[in-house]
Amino acid sequence: PLAAGLGELRAAAARWVGRRFGAALDPDTEVVPTLGSKEAIFSLAQIVVNRASGRDVVVVPTPGYPVAARGAAFAGAEVLEAVLDPARGWLPDPDALPWDRVALVWLTSPGNPTGAVAPPALMDELAARCRAHGAVLASDEAYCELWFGDRAPHSALELADRTGVLAFHTLSKRSSMPGYRSGFVAGDPELVAALKRFRPSVGTAPQTFVQRASVAAWDHDDHVAQARARYAAKREVLLPALLDLGLEDVGGDASFFLWLRVAAGDDDDEAFAARLLTEVGIVVAPGSYLGTGGSGHVRVALVPNLEACARAAELLAGWRP
Ligand SMILES: Cc1ncc(COP(=O)(O)O)c(C=O)c1O
Repeated sequence: PLAAGLGELRAAAARWVGRRFGAALDPDTEVVPTLGSKEAIFSLAQIVVNRASGRDVVVVPTPGYPVAARGAAFAGAEVLEAVLDPARGWLPDPDALPWDRVALVWLTSPGNPTGAVAPPALMDELAARCRAHGAVLASDEAYCELWFGDRAPHSALELADRTGVLAFHTLSKRSSMPGYRSGFVAGDPELVAALKRFRPSVGTAPQTFVQRASVAAWDHDDHVAQARARYAAKREVLLPALLDLGLEDVGGDASFFLWLRVAAGDDDDEAFAARLLTEVGIVVAPGSYLGTGGSGHVRVALVPNLEACARAAELLAGWRP
């Protein structure tokens, strides 16, 4: 199998980007299929970072999804954690980066664990600063189809100039297909061409039957609207019960996570999560496990079914931390 995958799959991905973001992509030069998005996120630093040039800093958001940082470390890059500030809505500050040494900037929007959504102006500014300094902007948009408010998250693919920009997409969250391992990377044709040269060395496109299933998934939107409604229903039963405990909802309004500040005076997130597990039987992720800047918070994943979320809310109503 070729790294480029099936033409039908690249075309379906481009059709979805057109419908969802109003952005036009050339399926042959601007899209490459991936095995989910994780492996592509992990390996991007290997094609972007050039240690000999002294441009070897990879910027990752923290608290965040840890794979980009690990991939950068394996590529021998210096990993710079951009600590997300609640006062900035958990979004990165372009002025805080050492631009002369930056090779790659990761943006995760919507954020994991924060659910924060980057406005187009921030994407534009990060892309422009990356371009001016010869760096790449990598936009991890795994949760872009899952939002709770009335505004759908934007994509870096909407930028008028996509030079130096790549966006990472996956069917894992959108179509609840994590086991299929199917996604794609899209953006700057030079970077896509580099990925097509690199990827045969480490793996190729998903199996053909997975690619064909993926065409169907990208071409249909009804099941995505249904998934979005399911996550919203689960959030509605669970969030009030968590707020009643004194937790504060400090996250954005997208992804399938709740990002909560542990009650003041009891801000040891690990201890809180341990008590929730042992005394109520509910598993949440302590924010301090999700990187610098996460302590004092917990991440609740709305992944059990609605019945289980309702049961969790009932159990929480009878518990006091
Ligand atoms: C922010 C983010 N990006 C990417 C991924 C990777 O998902 P997949 O490899 O299933 O596409 C995840 C998975 O949890 C994630 O949270």
